[in-house]
Amino acid sequence: MTFLSDLQIVAGALDRQVADARAGAVPVLAQRPMSAIIEDLQLDRFARRGGLEGDALRRFMDAYLPTIINLHQPGYMGHQVAVPHPSAAIGALIDGLTNNPMPIYEMGPGAAAIESFVLDWMLKKIGWTPPEPGHRTGKGVSGGVLTHGGSLANLTALIAARSSVRPDAWRQGAAGDLALMAPGNNHYSIERAAGILGLGTDNIYRVPTDARGAIDPRSLPATLAHIRRDGKTPMAMVANACSTAVGIYDRLRPIGEFCREQGIWLHVDGAHGASALLSPVYRHLLDGVELASSLTWDAHKMMRTPSVCAALLVRDQRTIDTAFDQDASYLIHDRDQPGFDFLHRTVECTKSGMGLKFFLTLGALGEEGLARYVERQYGLAAQAYDYLKGLGWVETPVVPQANILCFRVAGSDARQLELRKRILAEGDFYITSTLFADQRYLRLVFMHPDTTLDDVKRLMDRVRHFNAECDVA
Ligand SMILES: Cc1ncc(COP(=O)(O)O)c(C=O)c1O
Repeated sequence: MTFLSDLQIVAGALDRQVADARAGAVPVLAQRPMSAIIEDLQLDRFARRGGLEGDALRRFMDAYLPTIINLHQPGYMGHQVAVPHPSAAIGALIDGLTNNPMPIYEMGPGAAAIESFVLDWMLKKIGWTPPEPGHRTGKGVSGGVLTHGGSLANLTALIAARSSVRPDAWRQGAAGDLALMAPGNNHYSIERAAGILGLGTDNIYRVPTDARGAIDPRSLPATLAHIRRDGKTPMAMVANACSTAVGIYDRLRPIGEFCREQGIWLHVDGAHGASALLSPVYRHLLDGVELASSLTWDAHKMMRTPSVCAALLVRDQRTIDTAFDQDASYLIHDRDQPGFDFLHRTVECTKSGMGLKFFLTLGALGEEGLARYVERQYGLAAQAYDYLKGLGWVETPVVPQANILCFRVAGSDARQLELRKRILAEGDFYITSTLFADQRYLRLVFMHPDTTLDDVKRLMDRVRHFNAECDVA
């Protein structure tokens, strides 16, 4: 069996699946027990005997595709996961077969060059100065690295922050007196990073927020004074752009100015919302981002790129070059070679050619196309908010700033979860839920480029229907 004929089988099946999903002809999700799926796919048989190719592969695809969550169905309004552009999927295929694990330049010169280009493109969008084309080093320039996800980018940012505050910490460990400043609604990867770094989650000082969960910049001096009173040193301040639960942007300019004055590393978690930098209409949401020390920006959220491709970007590239091990980092990239090794900047050793997946999207849509996508999705959330407000029977906790919209019906948290369960079971829509201000909300994230206000209206009809027959208080 040849690669090409197997590819035709798979490509044909995928093409039909995506077309069916886009037409709403298949459910967004039809969950079955895991054991039944393992059996249906005959995993045990293929693991023992092999032969998963040709007609067997065709049957496998026929059995596998009904088990997926169909992100290409416009009723998908769930998690912050990209509905991939087909070109990006082709990028994933190219990367899968060529498998250039390029943290070392010679193990993937093309992939490393694309990573380098993509990082510089992002740096320019922030307003930072990338290195000269073809170089990655130099004084006074910014830098970055692609990571397998925003969580890893956040961890890497905080490692760089720690090395910047305590250059000896890498070898000697930190003395246990470092503190992090963050709002209570940061992504959970920040707590994980604090745990992994040995900082301890108890050393995260919570910055007061307004009713929407956005940091109140006026409260920063008091939080800092608190840290100092406790005999600790601020390692970094984390701000959201935007928050995971409800998509609210922290006001980066006053936060950035405060951090600059106080010499505190500001890390902006823009995993979801940094893509607004592409749009002249929404760029203002990140006003002041250039004052930050680092920014996390996921391509696999709002830039139509399949999982995973995230970027950690730093204002001063020396901070990432010295994040892990100051001496070894110079040794690693001083080799005489025509390109740059990213190895010393990452937690990972082997990396996939993530930049390729993203670049094939960027190359297909162009930055204008990506900007229009962001604007469309953010605009849809604003329209949907107005519609929900007009209904009169749902409560909406915040005016959306991004493409995330939360609401709840009257009743208990359990009632919201019950409604979600019934919506998912019906199969036409996929929605999520979140806690916000200690209450459970239903949550829509508009990721699909074809989801319309009519889809939202159809969803709300179903919510109304299930709400009327729901017997949970
Ligand atoms: C604000 C924010 N930061 C970080 C992450 C984690 O990113 P990833 O899923 O790429 O690890 C998320 C994911 O939803 C997020 O919303």
